[in-house]
Amino acid sequence: MRGNQLIPGLQIALLVLLVVARAATAVEPALDACGAAKLRAAGNACRALFTSEGRGSPVNDRARITAIAARAWGKAEAVATKAGVDCTNTTSAAPLLVTDLFLEIARFGQSTDGTRACRARHLRLAGATCRTLLRDDGNLLRLAHGDPSTPDPVGTQALIDFHARWQKIRCPTSFTHDAAANALESVVALANGHATTLALRELAARAGIPVGAAVEPEYLAQDPQFAPTFAREFSSLTPENKMKWDTTEPVRGQFNFVPGDALVDFAEQHGMRVRGTALFWGRLQLPDYVKAAVDADDARAMLTSHISTVVSHYAGRVAEWDVVNEPLTLIGQVGTTDGLDDHVMLEKLGPGYIAEALAIARAADPAAKLYLNDFLVEAPGAKQDRFVRLATDLLAAGAPLDGIGLECHMGLTGFPTADVLETAIRRFTDLGLEVELTELDVPALGRPGGVGAQGTYYRSIFAACLAVPGCRAVTTWGVSDHYSWLRNFGAPGEIPLMFDDAWMRKPAYFGARAAFLAH
Ligand code: XIL
Repeated sequence: MRGNQLIPGLQIALLVLLVVARAATAVEPALDACGAAKLRAAGNACRALFTSEGRGSPVNDRARITAIAARAWGKAEAVATKAGVDCTNTTSAAPLLVTDLFLEIARFGQSTDGTRACRARHLRLAGATCRTLLRDDGNLLRLAHGDPSTPDPVGTQALIDFHARWQKIRCPTSFTHDAAANALESVVALANGHATTLALRELAARAGIPVGAAVEPEYLAQDPQFAPTFAREFSSLTPENKMKWDTTEPVRGQFNFVPGDALVDFAEQHGMRVRGTALFWGRLQLPDYVKAAVDADDARAMLTSHISTVVSHYAGRVAEWDVVNEPLTLIGQVGTTDGLDDHVMLEKLGPGYIAEALAIARAADPAAKLYLNDFLVEAPGAKQDRFVRLATDLLAAGAPLDGIGLECHMGLTGFPTADVLETAIRRFTDLGLEVELTELDVPALGRPGGVGAQGTYYRSIFAACLAVPGCRAVTTWGVSDHYSWLRNFGAPGEIPLMFDDAWMRKPAYFGARAAFLAH
């Protein structure tokens, strides 16, 4: 009896402790009904402000904007108080954030250069989105009370929709929506009680993984937008081409590390890790002299010298290597090679060339993680099965294999759903291997849903990786659509990445952010 009576008492004490602990750790007072009313009012003012910008009557001085914010805020408070809502504990930082938000909008109004009608349409859209984000007090309230079932606590779906709808408004001039995006992101930050929003790499770091992109040194050097965007948003660098055999050893015995070194220097200057690709790739970018190996000894001598020289050169600076890239046949056909891609190393050394390559790399840098990387393995089928069997056999034979790269060129791979991809990832992590998504891109040109659907898809792909602890990184195959390899590989004008030709963040970017924020 006594025990039974004690338990409810204990429960109440614990509950009180929890509530007190929560109140003590909260940075901002919880958003209450009064705060929600104020945010709704701010939403209306936000929309009005965008509209007045669109009509060509820009409001750009701080005093006026502060006054607009304060007026909206004060009016909401008066209405709420009159309705019996207690406003005494409502957060005081929010009006300042709203003022900052309005200033962003004003800056946006000044920075645009479209025709008036076009500008007005864009601004009306931004205003409507702003209002949606701010007035969604149901979400905000649930968020403030820490309800994890809040459907979209960070308003990301509204941002994805905003970007998708923005793209549909066709304007005769180039027209930047980055300032509008910043303004709207401030709304999201406000809803979350933060003063600023985080870059993708910071969000990725909070989730414990790097987010990377493939780059070329000449793009970084020539395009003034490239380096700052890449450095701000990404924490991992993959040389798109400059660590492949045709660059690193174009002539037998003559090594060239100049472009690769430039990339590693850049990565180190910006606190990024480097993922090297590829020590051996039979399919492309393999010099003719390698293909002309006369016998097994000759082939082995070339493989050994190449891998050990390249890996030693970058020891301690390149965190991991694709030791063999694309070891499997194109579409997983078994053929006469048991599903292994047919090339000089397979012909001269047999299937054991893969274990040999791994061992050479391990000896040259014992700390580097060693990967095999392939495509068309993200969905179930013969090729995925063969990849699993290859990895299983290598591990059983004691080969130094640490991880599997799933390229994720989704256009080639048939746009597998997140579930399908997650299953693929788990097949390899179940073997004790790490997995990375190494070359993600998602064609959207002329496809249903365009960049909006692409954004939603990016979100699901990042989420699939985040759902599996052994999935260690996501790398996109490029930064801006402008430099996507697909444009030179049969898909001119393709738009598969997170930044568009003008370096605007696309729905894909906000989709990736959403995955991290929801994690
Ligand atoms: C591609 C590069 O993006 C191109 O610039 C180059 O001409 C060919 O190689 N799978 C891979 C990558 O593993 O190395 C390929 O990169 C894209 C497909």
